[in-house]
Amino acid sequence: MRDRLPAFPWDKLEPYKKTAAAHPGGIVDLSVGTPVDPVPESIQKALIAAADSPGYPTVWGTPELRDAITGWAERRLGARDLTHHHVLPIVGSKELVAWLPTQLGLGPGDKVAYPRLAYPTYEVGARLARAEHEVYDDVTALDPTGLKLLWLNSPSNPTGKVLGKEELTRIVAWAREHGVLVFSDECYFELGWEAEPVSVLHPDVCGGSYEGIVAVHSLSKRSNLAGYRAAFLVGDPAVLGPLLEIRKHGGMMTSAPTQAAVVAALADDTHVTQQRARYAARRTALRDALVRHGFRIEHSEASLYLWATREESCWDTVAHLADLGILVAPGDFYGSAGERFVRVALTATDERVAAAVERLSRA
Ligand SMILES: Cc1ncc(COP(=O)(O)O)c(C=O)c1O
Repeated sequence: MRDRLPAFPWDKLEPYKKTAAAHPGGIVDLSVGTPVDPVPESIQKALIAAADSPGYPTVWGTPELRDAITGWAERRLGARDLTHHHVLPIVGSKELVAWLPTQLGLGPGDKVAYPRLAYPTYEVGARLARAEHEVYDDVTALDPTGLKLLWLNSPSNPTGKVLGKEELTRIVAWAREHGVLVFSDECYFELGWEAEPVSVLHPDVCGGSYEGIVAVHSLSKRSNLAGYRAAFLVGDPAVLGPLLEIRKHGGMMTSAPTQAAVVAALADDTHVTQQRARYAARRTALRDALVRHGFRIEHSEASLYLWATREESCWDTVAHLADLGILVAPGDFYGSAGERFVRVALTATDERVAAAVERLSRA
């Protein structure tokens, strides 16, 4: 086990968490991007209405859930001609990221590639399958030999970078030319600020064919449903069919009340607009305060994070902010290229964000 997985990085942050928690005004925790605002009432009601669910749910989900997913993907992502065979519910996207290489049957000799600065679970997934892993700056510069799975992540965690339509089109064409399967993690799709995220399923990118491409979407950030564990895949039926079979054998099903809640969540855009407005206000306040405090912000045009540097080791920045009672994530959690950055999450209440802004402005 130990040789297969990296050390769990968040444990390294514990001493700084203690320092921040000792601040007389209390900790402002901007480290883990976990939602703090309420679950919208209509979603809670749908969950409660489905509370009497004694039977096993199905892995593929109810027909209502599949309809909700295809309808949403056509409306929001611009995808066309989707059927139920183009969708697969998952138990939050983290489990998918961690187990996808294994469920695809990848192993030693196969390669999984993901961005140089990335969500650490892409590497975990490759390691759990005992496959090789490789990071990239430019996808088309990768050696396609043995490359079986290519992860895209736009908007990016941690940098907030968005891949434009031309770049995505170029990447999809390259992957198809080399027979490489593309999984595009689009879990921050609804959180574009200075850039409009584009899905890999958009006809301008994929040419109206889903061959070799799958998009990953999550309700965690969009609808404050991280506690429900709700996400889904949309894309190539030739990939999703076998995945469905494997996940049926493995019992990877979302609970029936959660499935009902997702139907309600995907039918409603109003709560997404409201949540976006909350994050936009926190983002502006934190960004301005960080810049005034001497930080430089890079990318961060979308997603739930500010990618910030004081041109020093990330651990020095973490220590400096912990003294102000503010906890952030060190950039090296996301790859050594992040060692001079910290990731500042927008997921704190307005009151806590105001406290952080006040402390940054005073110091
Ligand atoms: C890039 C990325 N993918 C996937 C996830 C997992 O999200 P969830 O399991 O809540 O759907 C996260 C969570 O922060 C993430 O940042």
